[in-house]
Amino acid sequence: MTKRAAVILAAGQGTRMRSSLPKVLHPVGGRAMVDWSVDLAKAAGCERVIVVCSPAGVSVQDHVSESLGSNAIAIQDPPLGTGHAVLSAKDALQDFEGDLVVLYGDTPLIPLSAVEALFDELGHGASVGVLGFEAKDPGAYGRLITSPDGDLDAIVEAKEATSEQLAVSFCNSGVMAAKSDMMFDLLDRVTNDNAKGEYYLTDIVELANSDGGRCRAVACDEADVLGVNSRVELAEAEASFQAKMRHELLLKGVTMTAPETVFFSYDTQIENDVTLEPNVVFGPGVTVRSGAKVRAFSHLEGADVAGDCEIGPYVRLRPGAVLETGAKVGNFVEVKNTRIGAGAKANHLAYLGDGDVGAGANIGAGTIFCNYDGFLKYKTKVGTNAFVGSNSSLVAPVTIGDGAFVGSGSVITKDVEPNGLAVARGRQMQKAGWATSFRDKMAAVKATKKKG
Ligand code: UD1
Ligand code: CA
Repeated sequence: MTKRAAVILAAGQGTRMRSSLPKVLHPVGGRAMVDWSVDLAKAAGCERVIVVCSPAGVSVQDHVSESLGSNAIAIQDPPLGTGHAVLSAKDALQDFEGDLVVLYGDTPLIPLSAVEALFDELGHGASVGVLGFEAKDPGAYGRLITSPDGDLDAIVEAKEATSEQLAVSFCNSGVMAAKSDMMFDLLDRVTNDNAKGEYYLTDIVELANSDGGRCRAVACDEADVLGVNSRVELAEAEASFQAKMRHELLLKGVTMTAPETVFFSYDTQIENDVTLEPNVVFGPGVTVRSGAKVRAFSHLEGADVAGDCEIGPYVRLRPGAVLETGAKVGNFVEVKNTRIGAGAKANHLAYLGDGDVGAGANIGAGTIFCNYDGFLKYKTKVGTNAFVGSNSSLVAPVTIGDGAFVGSGSVITKDVEPNGLAVARGRQMQKAGWATSFRDKMAAVKATKKKG
């Protein structure tokens, strides 16, 4: 198979975001926009991915280096247009020969099928493949000028277009593919003799045609190629992603009574026959397995919820929360980096951090795993079928043995033996009739004060 590479353009300023965070690092569906493009490139089988950054975009460079290594960065300085941006990646791809796709770092929702379709066009002999869409409001988009046989004659930027060309609503998404050597040869010949004084990537289409090549446009939905320039468009991209996820999950067999109130991340995994009540938010890294129920107003991230579990309402699962089959976690319980064994319960008001709760254990209301001394974190273990009475503090590191009981209101600082009982609280003192004599005495005192 022909080798594949991608160049992701991310050297633009993104001033309209009005943000100290570079535009392409703003998240959609819980993942930085540039990572959507990186992931798409990898999913399309690109063995090389180059991200074109501005010299000032240090945090973008750092971000990309972390996942792809510093060889994946090309610097464009100064930014002289999209064509110039792609050329900036030429050196980095010197040793690469194969098909090249250009993606934008600010266009996160492109489906894999669209990129595959472009590569297919190259496979069928096209010099350049361009991803287009029917625009509701073509505005400033480049117009795709096609001939009756469906071939692409040219891309005309709005600023250069005649009124006839402006009437065309088939627009350029910016995603484009060509063989790498062809792409760079054509780009070397692009000039900046145009309205913006920029080197337009889009000019390669006319150049390829004048060389006797054939260019092809592939169509996709406008929502799939939504580019983000402002927070308004960021919110639109988010809404579009959420709508797509909800629809996919409903079709997959997930029950949602108010899907428009449930929010997912790019990697949320929900199996069929899961029920999601209204107002649930999924941060990254969550799996919920068949038969589980997530009740209203719960927030989950980095958590794995097994079948037949019931969580919520008002539960917070943080990274490392692992709930095994049939576990129950109820209202106002926070779980972090803790396994809750099969059938175990923590039904009300608890903090379970850095712990391990055995199967069948019962964690009473108000239980706290005291996992932190201001410096380090420690582990709390609660054994199989153990019973922790309400309002207990388990001061880690500590182990409650299998089948053991902890009396309500205990502050447990020492390990409790299996099947033992630990009670660690002040002993109760009793005085018969004390309340009656107290009331009589105080009433008399109050009466004397009133007279005086
Ligand atoms: C570009 C296309 C237009 C298309 C539109 C789709 C060109 C000439 N025009 O226009 O046909 O309809 O996208 O959104 O290609 N960038 C750089 N360096 C630069 C310039 C841009 O890295 O010097 C990056 C930007 O960060 C952005 C992308 O390239 O991610 C597109 O740049 P932008 O200026 O938004 O292009 P448009 O004028 O919108
Ligand atoms: Ca743009």
